Amino acid sequence: MNIKSEREIALMKEAGHINYLAHQEMEKYIKPGITTKELDEKIKKFIVSHGAIPSCYGYEGFPGNACICVNDEVVHGIPSKRKLKNGDIVKLDFTVRKNGYESDMTRTYLVGDVSPRIQQMVIDTEMALYEGLKVIKPGARIGDISHAIESYAHAHGLSVVEELVGHGIGTQMHEEPDVPNYGKANTGLVLKEGMTLAIEPMLNLGRKEVVLLDNDWTVVTEDKSPSCHFEHTIVVTKDGYEILTGE
Ligand code: MF3
Ligand code: CO
Ligand code: CO
Repeated sequence: MNIKSEREIALMKEAGHINYLAHQEMEKYIKPGITTKELDEKIKKFIVSHGAIPSCYGYEGFPGNACICVNDEVVHGIPSKRKLKNGDIVKLDFTVRKNGYESDMTRTYLVGDVSPRIQQMVIDTEMALYEGLKVIKPGARIGDISHAIESYAHAHGLSVVEELVGHGIGTQMHEEPDVPNYGKANTGLVLKEGMTLAIEPMLNLGRKEVVLLDNDWTVVTEDKSPSCHFEHTIVVTKDGYEILTGE
C-alpha cells in the first residue's frame, strides 16, 4: 500500500484546496435555468486559472471536466444542455490535478426550494461522510469506515449504493484500496499514517439498486429515487485524519 511522503501530501493538499475553492465558487451559479454544461465550463475555467488540470476530462474517455448528476443520477453524469430546475439536487464531482497529484471532491447542492425530505437526505449524506471520517486513524481498518457509513445511512432511512466505492488516491485518481460504503467493522486493510483516501458515500432515498444508462457512463437509481453524494480526499495522520480538499 502506497504511503505518501510529507512532500507528496503537501502537493495533494495544494490540488485539494483548489478543488475546494472551485466548489465554493460554483455555489453562486447553482440556480434554476443554468445548464450542466455551463457549470462544467465554469469548473474548467476556475481550475485552469489556478494552474491546475481538470483531470476527469478524458479519463477513460469521459467527455466532461466534471461529473454532474441531477436527482436520480448517482455518478458519472455527463454535462449537457439539461437545465437545472427549482427543487432539483445537483452533485458536482470532480478531480483537480496539480504538480502530478490528484484530489477528488463531491458535494450535493440544492437548486432553489427543495422538499424538506430531500433537504434532510442531503444533510444526512454529508453526516454519513463525517461518520466515516471520524473512525480514521492508524490501526483502524477500511471496514471500520465502511461500517460507520452504512450504519449511519441505515439509521437515517437511506440505502447504500454498493456498485461504487471510495478509493486510494495520489498520482492516480484511483489507487488501492477500495473503500466500500458498507461492510463489517474490524475487517479489511489496516490504515497507516500517510495513506491518502477518497471517502465518498452515495446514498439513495429509495432502494439501493442502480442501473447504467445507454451512454455507458451515467449510473442512475433503478427506482428513480434521488441519490446524494459527498466526497473528500483525506490523509491518515499520526492520530486521526486531515481533509486535503478543504480550506
Ligand atoms: N470523481 C470520480 C470518483 O469519485 C471519478 C470520475 S471518473 C471520470 O471516483 F471518468 F468521470 F472522470
Ligand atoms: Co469523485
Ligand atoms: Co472518488
